[in-house]
Amino acid sequence: MQKNLDNKFKNKNILITGGLGFIGSNLAIKLVNLGAKVTLMDAMLADYGANRFNIEPVKDKVKVDESDIRDADSVNRLVQGKDFIFHLAGQVSHVLSLSNPFLDIDINIKGTAMLMEACRNYNRSAKVIYTGTRGQYGSVVKLPVDETTPTNPKGIYEISNLTAEKIIKVYNDNFGIKCVLLRLTNVYGPRSQMKNDHYGVVNWFMRLALEDKEIKVFGDGKLKRDFLYVDDCVDALIMSAANENAYGEIFNVGINKPTTFVELAELIVQIAGSGRWEFAPFSAERKALEPGDYYSDISKIKEHVTWEPRISLAEGIKASIGYYQKYRTHYWE
Ligand SMILES: NC(=O)c1ccc[n+]([C@@H]2O[C@H](COP(=O)([O-])OP(=O)(O)OC[C@H]3O[C@@H](n4cnc5c(N)ncnc54)[C@H](O)[C@@H]3O)[C@@H](O)[C@H]2O)c1
Repeated sequence: MQKNLDNKFKNKNILITGGLGFIGSNLAIKLVNLGAKVTLMDAMLADYGANRFNIEPVKDKVKVDESDIRDADSVNRLVQGKDFIFHLAGQVSHVLSLSNPFLDIDINIKGTAMLMEACRNYNRSAKVIYTGTRGQYGSVVKLPVDETTPTNPKGIYEISNLTAEKIIKVYNDNFGIKCVLLRLTNVYGPRSQMKNDHYGVVNWFMRLALEDKEIKVFGDGKLKRDFLYVDDCVDALIMSAANENAYGEIFNVGINKPTTFVELAELIVQIAGSGRWEFAPFSAERKALEPGDYYSDISKIKEHVTWEPRISLAEGIKASIGYYQKYRTHYWE
């Protein structure tokens, strides 16, 4: 992939909102390696994934702007002169979106509107790449899920992601601000927050295994998901940003190999060489939010952008466990 993209990002000015978080920091490292000039905007809110250690390999090569997506002055300043804007800042937990809906609505909907207004006023030539969630589909009747599936979100986080997506599309259609709208499946890998289990289930399972604790698999453990390694996710963001065929489009970003939660827990325990797992009942709260089986049909992004995942679940878990074994003090100790 890298060879074809060298010139697309060399010396390009890039803004990553939420850039100190999990996906944002992995993206920043890759873009710096492609020769881009990268600015990271992050409010470093507690509960989410911001971590300065995440950008350790490129810390002298990126600018960090500690500011909030809801602050008009900061956003107006930061969008100026940027060729690409990856919008990843967000309230990212569906659980917290139900206990504190106004924070979610404020960051995900108002924050996105602030960003797009800033682009309308100060930089209409920026390309905006947005990372929404598979949760926008809600419970589905047909698997794998393609982009024509009706959206039926089950929580505030999923609604705010869908709304943010639609806001960005309005600016694409009315003001010519080109966008790519991605709907990500569950992503895992190095540089994720591991402090709590509010989101990021694969990473949470890995922490429990590394601490030699019990992983709780809810229900009968047969629920299916497609778990995507973060490097593959970052490639999807970069490749779609660079490809005119992607502009104005919605794409699922996942891996077309479903895995059950029991299989996931077994694999993690086996690769970590510690921990164990057991069945546990769903809490009423989690049960209500659970949309059932989900795995992505990725034929559309494959066709438009020629992206497809390359890392198997076993390879991704092995690489992630290696990372957290080495750097756990920066993530939860
Ligand atoms: N990780 C996944 O599995 C997954 C799946 C679907 C969608 N997404 C989306 O991808 C994006 C990135 O998620 P992530 O997994 O890297 O989470 P993360 O928590 O690691 O990163 C989000 C970052 O946004 C920052 N942020 C939050 N509110 C902010 C605000 N008001 N202003 C500026 N910065 C703010 C946080 O400090 C954090 O660094 C989010 O929009 C999330 O909804 C992630």
